[in-house]
Amino acid sequence: MCGIIGFTGRKPAKDILIDGLERLEYRGYDSAGIALLNDDDTLTIRKKAGRVSELRELCKDGDYSSTCGIGHTRWATHGGVTDANAHPHRCGNVALIHNGIIENYSDIIREYGLADKLVSETDSEVVAALLDTLYDGDPIAAIRKAVKIIAGSFALCIMFADRPGIIYAVRNVSPMVAAHSEEGSIIASDLTAIISFSKDYFVVPEYHILTMTQEGIRVEDLKGNEVKPQMLEITWDITAAQKGGFPHFMLKEIYEQPESLRNTITPRIVNSLPDFTEDGIDDEVFKNCENITVIACGTAMHAGIVGKAMIESELRIPVNVEIASEFRYKEPLINEKTLVIVTSQSGETIDTLEAMRLAKRCGSKVISIVNVKGSTIARESDYVLYTHAGPEIAVASTKAYSVQMAAMYLIGCRLGLVKGIYSEEQAKEFISKLLGTIPVIEETLLQADEVKTVANYIKMAPDAFFIGRGMDYTLSLEGALKLKEISYVHAEAYAAGELKHGTIALITENVPVIALATQPAVYEKMVSNIREVKARGAYVILISMGDEVTDTQICDKHIRIPKQDSLFTVFAAAVILQLIAYYTSDAKGLDVDKPRNLAKSVTVE
Ligand code: F6R
Repeated sequence: MCGIIGFTGRKPAKDILIDGLERLEYRGYDSAGIALLNDDDTLTIRKKAGRVSELRELCKDGDYSSTCGIGHTRWATHGGVTDANAHPHRCGNVALIHNGIIENYSDIIREYGLADKLVSETDSEVVAALLDTLYDGDPIAAIRKAVKIIAGSFALCIMFADRPGIIYAVRNVSPMVAAHSEEGSIIASDLTAIISFSKDYFVVPEYHILTMTQEGIRVEDLKGNEVKPQMLEITWDITAAQKGGFPHFMLKEIYEQPESLRNTITPRIVNSLPDFTEDGIDDEVFKNCENITVIACGTAMHAGIVGKAMIESELRIPVNVEIASEFRYKEPLINEKTLVIVTSQSGETIDTLEAMRLAKRCGSKVISIVNVKGSTIARESDYVLYTHAGPEIAVASTKAYSVQMAAMYLIGCRLGLVKGIYSEEQAKEFISKLLGTIPVIEETLLQADEVKTVANYIKMAPDAFFIGRGMDYTLSLEGALKLKEISYVHAEAYAAGELKHGTIALITENVPVIALATQPAVYEKMVSNIREVKARGAYVILISMGDEVTDTQICDKHIRIPKQDSLFTVFAAAVILQLIAYYTSDAKGLDVDKPRNLAKSVTVE
């Protein structure tokens, strides 16, 4: 949520910043801006409401020789989408960019008499004004004082007009990574913006002040002691953060799913059994567990719901799935016998993070399933099971969802083995079926053109319904979310048997109903439910498994996924649902990768 970048080095900064902002734009695209620090102690600021491409246009003229600057792409929280509210904010000697929320901004305005200094409606500008007030020639001293005053989440990059070539940075909660190479020093919200500089980086430690120059980066704690940050290595290539010939990141990421699954599952298979030794996850955590609570948001939460269905049916261990933003404000029913699984692609979602902290205070052990290495949730959880999906750039999550489900399946299998519910033989069979989903997905992807025809129908509809039973119902929740968020078609997911308890009133002539029927145990029941909606005029898109003979009268379109064990169909069926959403959005001419009002990593509650 909001992307920030800073560069100081041996090259002009403008293009580096704008290129970086383009990579970070998925974090927010309401406005964009840069500030450049010139050698003559002046600051040049260019910013405007709109996309980074518009900022690039704006910066086509003028002298931009400065080699030190900061840039921001905004997802609006405090204050509307206007030029004035765009970052960087400047107040007197100070220019800054901010990602996060300053909770006590109004108290600060009052206490420090800042009202006259402000020209925007943002909480961020208040920090610029505060720093300008506190600044007496010593930037570090001013920042130290400021971070003791401000409350909330923040990743700040700050420049002082009389400190040429220097960027200061500090953070709490909101993410920031930094790197140094021959070209200079760079800092950004995530790795996609720094990978072209260096593969060696560090996660900026919270409440530490960075002083960045072209020669290097000094990190110090709030007492002034120098700290050596822990260096990490980026394990993926820059091509992973490019579209690679696909028209959109989302489509590329859908197609990357076989590889993402392979990378996530295979390193955890030893002698055909699930093994978390390399992840440092102790079997004790499984032995002690009497029940499980999954905490997550959005798509990650939907992966948890699939995991719940799988674990409860296979292992008979109760699993509770909690929406993180709800969980964090309740008196949770968990204790030291509860294994908490926290699922997050970004590892930075603030509600998930806070919910995890609460779970730890309740004495539960936490395994996080996280995609972004070194992210806050990964660092703070007791154990982390990294998914290896590579960077997910499209705002709508696809490959991260699949690998989150796979991680849940791996955990379920290990748990079953450790608790003696599965014999080694059974666990091996489970793993072989899990790995078997990879070629099945590859085969399913061959049907993309078929799915496109469905999308051409759905694009005309104001509403759509996803129905299914059992595992299919858990998946339909994600199908509906995907369609809503990128195609703006209102969509609802229903347990197929529940439809007639109210919602069937909404089924009228030509309403698309995507009916998932991949579960043989309830297939006939599904067919009855499909007949009910068909009788009311619905346009039925049936997704089923294998080559079972189906009365062609019950559906208008039939998409089949390859035959497999019904516990594992979610992986291939998910791909079909993702493609439906993708092609519907594309057919409507929408910005698939950057749907309105959304941003990738949600770091505000
Ligand atoms: C939807 C989507 C979101 C995220 C949610 C949690 O396509 O991407 O619903 O799943 O915001 O994000 P993470 O997984 O980063 O915690």
